[in-house]
Amino acid sequence: MSKPAVPFPPEDELHSNAWAKDIFKGKVVFCTGGAGTICSGQVRALVSLGANAAILGRREANTQSVAAEIAKVRPGSKVLGFGCDVRDHSSLVKAVESTVKELGRIDFLICGAAGNFLSTVDGLSPNAFKTVMDIDLLGSFNTVKACLPELKKTKGRIIFVSASFHYTGAALQSHVAAAKAGIDALSHSLSIELGPAGITSNVVTPGAIAKTEGMDRLTATNMVPEELRENPAKMTPLGRWGAISEVADATIFLFSDAGRYINGVTIVVDGGSWRNGNQV
Ligand code: HXC
Repeated sequence: MSKPAVPFPPEDELHSNAWAKDIFKGKVVFCTGGAGTICSGQVRALVSLGANAAILGRREANTQSVAAEIAKVRPGSKVLGFGCDVRDHSSLVKAVESTVKELGRIDFLICGAAGNFLSTVDGLSPNAFKTVMDIDLLGSFNTVKACLPELKKTKGRIIFVSASFHYTGAALQSHVAAAKAGIDALSHSLSIELGPAGITSNVVTPGAIAKTEGMDRLTATNMVPEELRENPAKMTPLGRWGAISEVADATIFLFSDAGRYINGVTIVVDGGSWRNGNQV
């Protein structure tokens, strides 16, 4: 059977044209998983609007090379890349110290580091389950913990990158679903606990986003439904996959002045897919 063309989003831009130039001038974003496809897009957009950034990833050389690429979007910007495993709280503390030393502050935190794979429950060892919980959930906690003293100084904003398939449950992703549900709960709790310190905590949930590592992996496997492999755009009410820039737009909104009273919510950027029962 021939593969129908997937209606990709038409553009390859950093973000929509809704935002004023330099709105993040003087701000600093700290992002775990920042070398990944979605999080690097979030950071690239923030940098293009004036922010400086520190991105963290497990592969140091790759992270530094992505940081250098991101810096090109705005001449004069500073983007640092750190090798860091979010399971190691002490290495996060060191990255925070270096960031503050070189960039002066941390205003925005994106907890985006994830370690995911598709597996049946039968195929998951206890250590496999624990590994994903440790990277996704404990890693998010570790990141907040390491950044909190700085976020208190700046009345900062936190975004967790989550998922929607745990709203109903999903085969082959019991480990990831459990971790992402925990991340949502962590954010909701922090929004209440840290609100009095002027810190907001929200969740951005990407759905099927084109040109991402996650979708490449999902569509490459025989373990996902044929309909998704053959024409994923059929599964979203808007009839197409999303763009990385559309996740960036939600991020910009939450970090901008326009998002200043938004705390404890989840913005699902999936074209309405999960409402239609199709979680990705
Ligand atoms: C079953 C698996 C497995 C698999 C690993 N394990 N892969 N079990 N199916 N496909 C098991 C191992 O056998 C081991 O258990 C345990 O998990 C830990 O594996 P390690 O390789 O030692 O861990 P580590 O080196 O820390 O690697 C973490 C990882 C790996 C999560 C397993 O996949 C990884 O590094 N991923 C990083 C990249 C990534 O996942 N990015 C996701 C972005 S996309 P035992 O019992 O043998 O010790 C995204 C969107 C969703 O998030 C995508 C959906 C697919």
